[in-house]
Amino acid sequence: MKGKVILLGVSGGIAAYKAAGLCSALVKEGAVVHVIMTESATRFIAPLTFQSLAKTAVITDIFAEPDPGEISHIALADKADLVVVAPATANVIAKAAHGLADDMLTTTLLATRVPVLFAPAMNVNMYHNPVVQDNLARLRARGWLVAEPGEGPLACGYTGRGRLPEPEELVDVIRAIFRQKKDMQGLRVLVTAGGTRERIDPVRYLTNDSSGKMGFALAEAAARRGADVTLVTGNTTLPPPANVRVVPVESALDMHRVVLDLLPQQDVVIKAAAVADYRPALAAERKIKKTGDRLTIELVRNPDILADIGTRKTDRQVIVGFAAETNDVVTNAAAKLRAKNADLIVANDVSQEGAGFGSDTNIVSLVRPDRPVRELPQMSKRDVAEAILDEILAIRKDRL
Ligand code: PMT
Repeated sequence: MKGKVILLGVSGGIAAYKAAGLCSALVKEGAVVHVIMTESATRFIAPLTFQSLAKTAVITDIFAEPDPGEISHIALADKADLVVVAPATANVIAKAAHGLADDMLTTTLLATRVPVLFAPAMNVNMYHNPVVQDNLARLRARGWLVAEPGEGPLACGYTGRGRLPEPEELVDVIRAIFRQKKDMQGLRVLVTAGGTRERIDPVRYLTNDSSGKMGFALAEAAARRGADVTLVTGNTTLPPPANVRVVPVESALDMHRVVLDLLPQQDVVIKAAAVADYRPALAAERKIKKTGDRLTIELVRNPDILADIGTRKTDRQVIVGFAAETNDVVTNAAAKLRAKNADLIVANDVSQEGAGFGSDTNIVSLVRPDRPVRELPQMSKRDVAEAILDEILAIRKDRL
């Protein structure tokens, strides 16, 4: 971290006092720290504390332009190697997510082109509020980073997620950002995500509970690691990840066509989508009217996209499938690995809490031919994505 310029944005929450510890730790690591405080942050801790620790002027007022030769927020945004917002309140997260710029911190965030790390800290109910989660998803989709808050007793009296991580933990995250390798540079990666919709008529369809979170996390992580990423996605409400080409599709047949078209250009294909195995034999052109007591819809098999990729793949391509299982997870995954000629199957027991459809976490086992199965503990889908990408790089290395 020696010589790195870090812009520390402090917003107004009780955890602002912990930002002083972070500032001090970063200075000890050799970083040059410039601090911007929101007005409410100054109610919790004095600017002089940061000035004394960082030995740089603390900026609180967007109109204070101490040097007539430059515009402060642009100059700061340009000279930083990293911006860290700690603590990031729900308010500053919302402003950043929507591009509001009504103070020095949010204006600088708009002007910077370097990585930005948000460290949210707030009451547990505020943190889990869908609006806050939505705004955090927007930040991530722009390629900004979010450090997960810790769990424990909170200043408000509640116990739960919402604590600002300790300064040493944040320093570790910051070190990792500076160390982040672009180890997928030059690789073309296709990821599928979300569930398919199989039309019954113009207003009805068959689908499943896939939210797209697992596939989006994979696309996001691969792009961050330097890959050229195409994300073929079924219906989802997630915002498109930064630096990723997104191809929306509806049905399994659409996904089949798009994926096979793009296959020859790919080095890696990861099939995290939940593809319907069957579709209505006929999609009615008009809305089906209520008639008798029963309605029978005939279903026909969809093509198995992963299996079709398996028959066409070249020696240089790595093909990864998922297995959503509720029993005999590893045995069934191993059978899929063989049947679909994949290089890796990521098996998840979707009957477990915290795994599979919809959740922010997953519990997976990595199954490869002729290798011991790697069982991973419950992790965020983002961390699972990193582990899968590491495994893919290991497969490529084994082939050399
Ligand atoms: O989207 P989330 O809410 O984050 O949930 C993630 C997830 C549970 C959807 C994901 O982790 C997952 O398990 N995806 C695969 C779900 C699935 O369809 O599993 P399967 O066991 O039925 O299929 C096995 C593999 O074959 C999968 O890679 C699937 O994409 C593929 N497949 C299946 C059927 C088909 N017709 N074509 C396919 O390519």
